[in-house]
Amino acid sequence: MKRLIIIALAVGVALSFSSGVRAADSTKVAAKAPGKADTLKWAEAHFKYVGETKCKMCHKQQYDSWATTKHAKAWASLKPEEQKKAECVECHVTGKTASDSLLVNVACEACHGPGSDYKASAKMKDVKLAAAAGLLAVNEATCVRCHNAKSPTFKSFEFAKAKETGVHKHFPKVPPTTAPTK
Ligand code: HEC
Ligand code: HEC
Ligand code: HEC
Ligand code: HEC
Repeated sequence: MKRLIIIALAVGVALSFSSGVRAADSTKVAAKAPGKADTLKWAEAHFKYVGETKCKMCHKQQYDSWATTKHAKAWASLKPEEQKKAECVECHVTGKTASDSLLVNVACEACHGPGSDYKASAKMKDVKLAAAAGLLAVNEATCVRCHNAKSPTFKSFEFAKAKETGVHKHFPKVPPTTAPTK
């Protein structure tokens, strides 16, 4: 577990040096965004996972609610020897298919997409900018990447029902307090 966190942190540090360049490029990237089926692939090719503590700074309510879900404990459900097996790790982490970042548990970005770019305040306040910077729509396809028969404990998956218990509670959007005055 320590090793995975260290990898994630190292990636985070490397990123903080290059994020200026990436931010400037995201409009160009958006123009190349492919159709829905590959959006995760597209997002992972251009943006990095940053970890749920970054999201918590601005979304404490969603964070606290997420922390009570099974997703927040998915890594601990694996026994130490299973945590070393690729065939188990796959769905009990965030960012398995990304080349260079891996975070334990099914965290924010497992559903919302890698947040290195969209987490910036100016993009978050404009959902179109956020989407161009990697914020993905959450739908049934998001879930069935992991909720499928490849899971040894899989029985069935019913999206509408699973959304009620598996996802954090929802909170009204708070209008930005720093809205420009003009
Ligand atoms: C600097 C503060 C900040 C950070 C950091 C941040 N957000 Fe946001 N986020 C906002 C604001 C402001 C909004 C728009 C108002 C709202 O939804 O409360 C927003 C909106 C959202 C929305 C709703 C978008 C929609 O459909 O309208 C999602 C989902 C979201 N953020 C996820 C995340 C995730 C996941 C992370 C971490 C990778 C993150 N945010 C990090 C400030 C932030
Ligand atoms: C990255 C993989 C992944 C994604 C994406 C994912 N889940 Fe999960 N989900 C898991 C894992 C792993 C568990 C089991 C955690 C544990 O108990 O250790 C789980 C558990 C759950 C549970 C509890 C199941 C139970 O038996 O109690 C629900 C409900 C759920 N997820 C709903 C969803 C929904 C709805 C979505 C999409 C919006 C989603 N999940 C997306 C991996 C994922
Ligand atoms: C394809 C994705 C996937 C893979 C691969 C996977 N899991 Fe899971 N795991 C899940 C999901 C999703 C759940 C939630 C329950 C369900 O729907 O299967 C879960 C739940 C669990 C749970 C909690 C079960 C419970 O009853 O609360 C354990 C323990 C677990 N998995 C162990 C493993 C082990 C061990 C492996 C490797 C042999 C593994 N998983 C591989 C997706 C996966
Ligand atoms: C299992 C998938 C899943 C995970 C994990 C997840 N979310 Fe969400 N989130 C959703 C869904 C579904 C919505 C409803 C909006 C939508 O359909 O896009 C949502 C909505 C939001 C919103 C919009 C406001 C609201 O409350 O509905 C914010 C902000 C947000 N999530 C932040 C987060 C943060 C921060 C984390 C991690 C602490 C997180 N999410 C983890 C699925 C997820």
